[in-house]
Amino acid sequence: MFITLEGPEGSGKTSQVPQLAKYLRDLGWDVLTTREPGGTDIGDQIRQVLVSMENKALHPRTEILLFLAARAQLVEQVIKPALAEGKVVLCDRYADSTLAYQGYGHGLDLPALRSMLQFATDGLKPDLTILLDLPVEVGLSRKKKEDEWNRLDAYEVKFHERVREGYHILAGEEPARWKTIDASQPREVVQENLRAVVLLSLQNQSLIADSSN
Ligand code: TYD
Repeated sequence: MFITLEGPEGSGKTSQVPQLAKYLRDLGWDVLTTREPGGTDIGDQIRQVLVSMENKALHPRTEILLFLAARAQLVEQVIKPALAEGKVVLCDRYADSTLAYQGYGHGLDLPALRSMLQFATDGLKPDLTILLDLPVEVGLSRKKKEDEWNRLDAYEVKFHERVREGYHILAGEEPARWKTIDASQPREVVQENLRAVVLLSLQNQSLIADSSN
């Protein structure tokens, strides 16, 4: 099963994923975690270009091609092989980040983005996508406090408002795939909600697999 976590800045995905993975492993699931951009040696090199504060001149079209390049590598090298081995793949950001940030945030052409995403991912879509949702100001102030400020965070607040709104639109378009969790709650509560959502989906998926055998 392929599970992705999405959300605006400071939603806490990155600290929640390892805890969620440990919980699932303790229950006996074979879990692989990865993150975007990055997740492979080549992807991590691309990530450095994307987040460097020195690369202020990066054009949105260049930016998106770099995200897609890192993703194509991740899909082929990591995600597809893990799914083929029956693993649960937990990915911190995936194609929906591109639609939310480059599409809704920067206003790039959504149909064009969708076809480029199809190409980059070879059509691989998540079975479940969890949106860790929280108000933009709360997320940005969390990140500033944690001193994790990078080039992509430094865009104006309005950009992040569009990103969040984009996520809401995407989740509304495909309610069967998306589950939304209020990430402004305390971290432990968010983790509990995450566990409940993922377990339910894994159980449903197992039931479907059993009934088709
Ligand atoms: P990162 O430090 O991983 O942020 P976070 O912890 O919030 O995931 O940086 C990734 C940044 O890249 C983040 O601002 C979102 C952005 N991004 C895009 O704009 N498009 C994409 O396709 C992806 C995967 C990420």
